Amino acid sequence: MRAMSEAPRLEMRGVEKRFGALVALSGVDLVVEAGEVHALIGQNGAGKSTLMKVLAGAVAADAGALRIDGAPYAPRGPADAIAAGVAMVYQELNLAPDLTVAQNLVLGRESSRLGWLRAAPDRARVERVLAVLARPELAPDRRVAELDPGARQLVEIGRALAFDARLVVLDEPTSSLSAAETSTLYGVIERLRADGVSIVYISHFLEEVKRVADRYTVLRDGATVAVGAVRDASVGSLVEAMVGRRLDEAYPPRPPSARGAPLLALDGLAGEPLPSQVSLTLHRGEVLGLAGLVGAGRTELLRAVFGLAPVRAGTVRVAGVEDRGRPTPARVRQGLGMVSEDRKEEGLALARSVAENLTLSSARPFSRGGWVRPAARDACAQRYIDALSIKTRGPAQPAGELSGGNQQKIAIARLLHQDADVLLLDEPTRGVDVGSKVEIYRLIGELAAKGKAVLVVSSYLPELLGVCDRIAVMHRGRLGPARPAAEWTEGALLDEATRGAA
Ligand SMILES: Nc1ncnc2c1ncn2[C@@H]1O[C@H](COP(=O)(O)OP(=O)(O)OP(=O)(O)O)[C@@H](O)[C@H]1O
Ligand SMILES: [Mg+2]
Repeated sequence: MRAMSEAPRLEMRGVEKRFGALVALSGVDLVVEAGEVHALIGQNGAGKSTLMKVLAGAVAADAGALRIDGAPYAPRGPADAIAAGVAMVYQELNLAPDLTVAQNLVLGRESSRLGWLRAAPDRARVERVLAVLARPELAPDRRVAELDPGARQLVEIGRALAFDARLVVLDEPTSSLSAAETSTLYGVIERLRADGVSIVYISHFLEEVKRVADRYTVLRDGATVAVGAVRDASVGSLVEAMVGRRLDEAYPPRPPSARGAPLLALDGLAGEPLPSQVSLTLHRGEVLGLAGLVGAGRTELLRAVFGLAPVRAGTVRVAGVEDRGRPTPARVRQGLGMVSEDRKEEGLALARSVAENLTLSSARPFSRGGWVRPAARDACAQRYIDALSIKTRGPAQPAGELSGGNQQKIAIARLLHQDADVLLLDEPTRGVDVGSKVEIYRLIGELAAKGKAVLVVSSYLPELLGVCDRIAVMHRGRLGPARPAAEWTEGALLDEATRGAA
């Protein structure tokens, strides 16, 4: 333990930041002690990532004073942050996919040109980091593009280990990690803490915060509203501080929906390389959940159905029409829609406006004689902004300026606008705060009540149990039988996800 006279590892006082008329931070205080894991929590758009960008020298604050180990710290750019021992793992990955694991680990800290690795000292550094991570798939010479999202996230975390950081910031680190990768991460955190390194941990999973963090700071609307020791706080009290009110129901009651005719039927569907031999039937009015470990083939299944990945064998039947596989535009015409796992790769057009993104799937209602009518489009966009409480300056703001969770909400609203009959949702609440999750669950229930069919992939088991009619578990590309949600428990889902159906 440090002596009482020692300065905190990090002190941020009265930090303010505006983006035009929008006040992102209005006087934030954050104090992180040496060797502690400090959770930074708050709703989507509360200012967590912006505050960390100020710390990293990526965003210049309008006001405020920073100190690291007692010394004044005023970063003018990322190089200053690195020099001060601050390592950032951002919410959106920043790796170079065409470079190797080893190259990515030391990227940006090389004095040499990009891509070129000096022989001896950096090899040792890379090997030391990979030994800590201890994951066989992270071979030094493997291209990052070949890794799945969870392994990429670990490489990103490895970058923070690659030089001797005093303070590591993890912005939603577990959102794409498998259970095994998450325990690797927890191990890394333990090790850093034992070495006296401080960690700022941003997460929307409050159970996780309870597990890994020592203390917490809650941001609401760009201001610090609560600070405390995690062991003295319940999940409910953290939620209350974040949202500003009690949140009683995590899973709103579903409006009644009668199970209707089959809308989507898969028979022996096999992809390249996953899934293998998947059969399932999804009915009107039904919400069907797909559980399984990250990498089990759930994303590949949705992508194959939606025409984004090749189909090797089997058939897809949409509303009675049977075929082996069709390109995505044909699937959209058949009434399928998808929210993909990766916002960045096939999700949003970040440079385009919120309104354009929301209405991209179907601009026809707003065009007359080939001209888009912006007023009508903006009015429509505003309805989605209100319905999903999307935090934005307005329909004209570029989507790339929105916070991570708000971008995810746009991806969902866009699918609503498409008015698809069959909704394929891959981790729909990833990065979404607790309050907005409830709104998304409510929407899913309403869609089912309207006779739509919803297929949800989620790694968050309480969510599947809370919103689905039936749940099936995928294990190594094979899908077990779909059973009523009431017949499952978290333990049973996890068991089948790990070992396969009995
Ligand atoms: N470059 C930018 N230009 C304009 N506005 C921005 C920019 N960056 C952030 N903002 C705004 O600042 C506010 C805070 O965003 P921030 O990304 O810090 O939220 P967050 O707490 O990290 O949310 P999330 O949980 O969704 O990741 C949001 O309203 C966001 O739209
Ligand atoms: Mg963020």
